[in-house]
Amino acid sequence: MQGFEIRDGALAVENVPLATIAEQVGTPAYVYSAGAIRTRYRALAAALDPLGIAIHYAVKANSNQAIITLLRGLGAGADVVSGGELARALAAGIPADRIVFAGVGKTRDEMAAALDAGIHLFNIESEPELETLAEVARSKGTTARVGLRVNPNVDAKTHAKITTGKAENKFGVPIERAPAFFARAGELSGVEAVGLSVHIGSQILDLEPYRQTYVRVREMALTLRAQGYGLRNLDLGGGLGIGYRGEEGPDPQGLAAIIKEQLGDLDFELAVEPGRWLVGAAGVLLARVILVKQGETKRHVVVDAAMNDLIRPTLYEGFHRIEPVVGRDRADAGMADIVGPICESGDYLAKDRPLPAVAAGELLVVRDAGAYGAVMSSTYNARPLAPEVLVDGDRWTVIRPRQSVDALIALDKVPDWLAG
Ligand code: LLP
Repeated sequence: MQGFEIRDGALAVENVPLATIAEQVGTPAYVYSAGAIRTRYRALAAALDPLGIAIHYAVKANSNQAIITLLRGLGAGADVVSGGELARALAAGIPADRIVFAGVGKTRDEMAAALDAGIHLFNIESEPELETLAEVARSKGTTARVGLRVNPNVDAKTHAKITTGKAENKFGVPIERAPAFFARAGELSGVEAVGLSVHIGSQILDLEPYRQTYVRVREMALTLRAQGYGLRNLDLGGGLGIGYRGEEGPDPQGLAAIIKEQLGDLDFELAVEPGRWLVGAAGVLLARVILVKQGETKRHVVVDAAMNDLIRPTLYEGFHRIEPVVGRDRADAGMADIVGPICESGDYLAKDRPLPAVAAGELLVVRDAGAYGAVMSSTYNARPLAPEVLVDGDRWTVIRPRQSVDALIALDKVPDWLAG
């Protein structure tokens, strides 16, 4: 992966050795490569720009202000799913008219904030949500542009917890119901239905489900137009996966070819919402070995990063390569579980992994942790949030400092009637 290089036998992020960062900010720590994010964005844009497809970065993947700002500078709009993400995108300078608001349960307050900001589009996932948005918009004397999120009933062949386009999932309305939805929207003041949106899941490695999805979207878009609806926007979702095992992973040119084949001849405004593909491989989680515990059947390498820092392994059986930062050429010393110090058996970063003999104090790197890493972290076991660092060439900056335990404690309030 561009952005991560071996220098004098040690892993560096661009020109900065990870060991230097670990020394200065401590561990665990997230480290991102600005260069890698730029390279990914440009590769995606090179595939999509010729087709006029807008890129709305799915802020949920990594919502650090520095990362959103970097992507904004490259030309990205934003896909947000909460009032918090909306505020983050706006604070990072993403123009409101390049923001789309998705999500299955937007509150009235969130709708109001998005209307006040003047966002481009709401992706609406149900009739009750449409009715509420219409009410909120009317109360403000405005009209909300709406895309209907349709569920195409396509299996994205990904982990059950991150598949979204099957009939049993909570997302969107069945695609066949789109005409009824557009009819209802036409009766309501306060909303104008202008598009369809679709997102079938995340970490999609096989592009075929995209084709099946876009075939259905095309058919429905044409049906709606034939019925006289002023459909302009098609939001084609995110979900493009990355090669967590070090393999190439799907190529945006492949996705672009499918979009072109299915939708290229129609005059819709097209957009995609990638998150992971842009930032996933551009980040690592840096951890230090606390101790090595040779059990009866297993070697447990206990590190100072845990499931509160990176929940993907235990939540989705997510695979992340784990390697020593220094002295990477050592032979494997058999299998190990790399685990955190949290009091749960589910607290692991990897299971049954070939790993060299490592000693207490050594640095390990958990690869491909730029997406759904820091954003999903918690303070379980009163573990403060890990810092985030952004590297760009020779320079690097702490883009979120390590939370202190004092700051964590200060968030709580002990009632007067308990104190003393
Ligand atoms: N658009 C919508 C409507 C979404 O729900 C998502 C992700 C995206 C775009 C961006 O998907 P991406 O391009 O990043 O795959 N925490 C999980 C992934 C959850 C994805 C949720 N929705 C993980 O760590 O694998």
